[in-house]
Amino acid sequence: VHRLRSVDNLFVVVQEFKDYQFKENKEDALKDLEDLVKKLPWTNPLKVWELNNSLKKKKTKRKKHNLQSTASKEKLNDDGEEEGRDQKDASKQEDCAQNAAGVEPVSGQDTEKTQGAASRNGGEEEEDNEQSDAKDELQAGSGSETKAGDGKTSEGEAKVLKFRVTCNRAGDKHSFTSNEAARDFGGAVQEHFQWKADMTNFDVEVLLNIHNNEVVVGIALTEESLHRRNITHFGPTTLRSTLAYGMLRLCDPQPTDIIVDPMCGTGAIPIEGATEWPSCYHIAGDNNPQAVKRAANNICSLLKKNENKESSTSLGIPLDIVQWDICNLPLRTGSVDIIVSDMPFGKRIGSKKKNWDLYPACLMEMGRICTPGTGRAVLLTQDKKCFAKALSRMGHIWRKGQTVWVNVGGLHAAVYLLKRT
Ligand SMILES: C[S@@+](CC[C@H](N)C(=O)[O-])C[C@H]1O[C@@H](n2cnc3c(N)ncnc32)[C@H](O)[C@@H]1O
Repeated sequence: VHRLRSVDNLFVVVQEFKDYQFKENKEDALKDLEDLVKKLPWTNPLKVWELNNSLKKKKTKRKKHNLQSTASKEKLNDDGEEEGRDQKDASKQEDCAQNAAGVEPVSGQDTEKTQGAASRNGGEEEEDNEQSDAKDELQAGSGSETKAGDGKTSEGEAKVLKFRVTCNRAGDKHSFTSNEAARDFGGAVQEHFQWKADMTNFDVEVLLNIHNNEVVVGIALTEESLHRRNITHFGPTTLRSTLAYGMLRLCDPQPTDIIVDPMCGTGAIPIEGATEWPSCYHIAGDNNPQAVKRAANNICSLLKKNENKESSTSLGIPLDIVQWDICNLPLRTGSVDIIVSDMPFGKRIGSKKKNWDLYPACLMEMGRICTPGTGRAVLLTQDKKCFAKALSRMGHIWRKGQTVWVNVGGLHAAVYLLKRT
């Protein structure tokens, strides 16, 4: 399951309640959540967690080894644009974006923002997300060899597990906040298992996902989102690799296809494409020189990372990055099989006003380079009105296929599949 390309986070379900009846009174509702802890079937989910832990440990060991051998070479910064900062921000935000597979949350929900807005990876969040208060922060080791069932390490000595509860709540009918739910549920977990609460250095992360009347209790199997696999140099609108993968899959790439992202930014789409569809040739470009530089740096980081692996990318990846203007692409007419692109929403990049000129020009130029009859495009935008208008004038070039609704950092966006006429 860790190899699934379009999944951000993995967790094992302890129990799911489709229609949980929350009491109206806050104290009663929280008391019910507390009481729930001892009624849940924890045994098998904890076995899955243990199994996952042992697999994860092997993976970490390998990772550490690779890191050691490349540590001195990982200095690919552009203009002091460090690798850590944006990435860290993105991970913080993505913790809040708990709607699996990026599906748009139901509108009209209670929306408590507990973390600040930043990048498109999850900046404008609509869900409430808190972790339980950690009273004691333990200093003991990571406990990755600890068995959840018997509370002992593999060496046999007693070892207390550390845990935290993360509550993701969406809905306007709850009398409590996610923070209160996480705190009280967490307190009961602590009492039930005799584990210790630790917000940062935890062994087990218990998830309490509340969506209106639906409650899912789970145990996390991933520490950081799986979308953070390719990018080291982030930009203001870096797309999740998981969403990039879904977009690429939508146009069903075939070996030898030429795939173009004409507005690639930091390169999330073409890098995912070149990694997952290495038998295609990928060309990407952007008119912003800094974006092109970041994309190039991301490719370099990936190549360095894979240097010591016997992977298909050890000899390079089938991807070229060019600085260009989408309105005047240096590509032959009808030479491209697939276009996959994340267009400026007009919020962080460009403006809604500029999109009225940009979108028709984009569709026209994309239509020129794409092979008539078989060519296809998958385009992501949140500026749906402008896109629809531009497309309505291009009926002779593009035929609209499927539309997939996606949540991009809390924004309701659309992925359009277009077929070249
Ligand atoms: C939404 S961002 C793409 C983000 C990208 N998917 C990533 O992962 O970083 C849109 C990109 O379009 C680029 N762009 C805007 N106008 C353009 C133009 N006329 N020609 C080429 N690129 C353009 C912007 O510089 C920006 O990087």
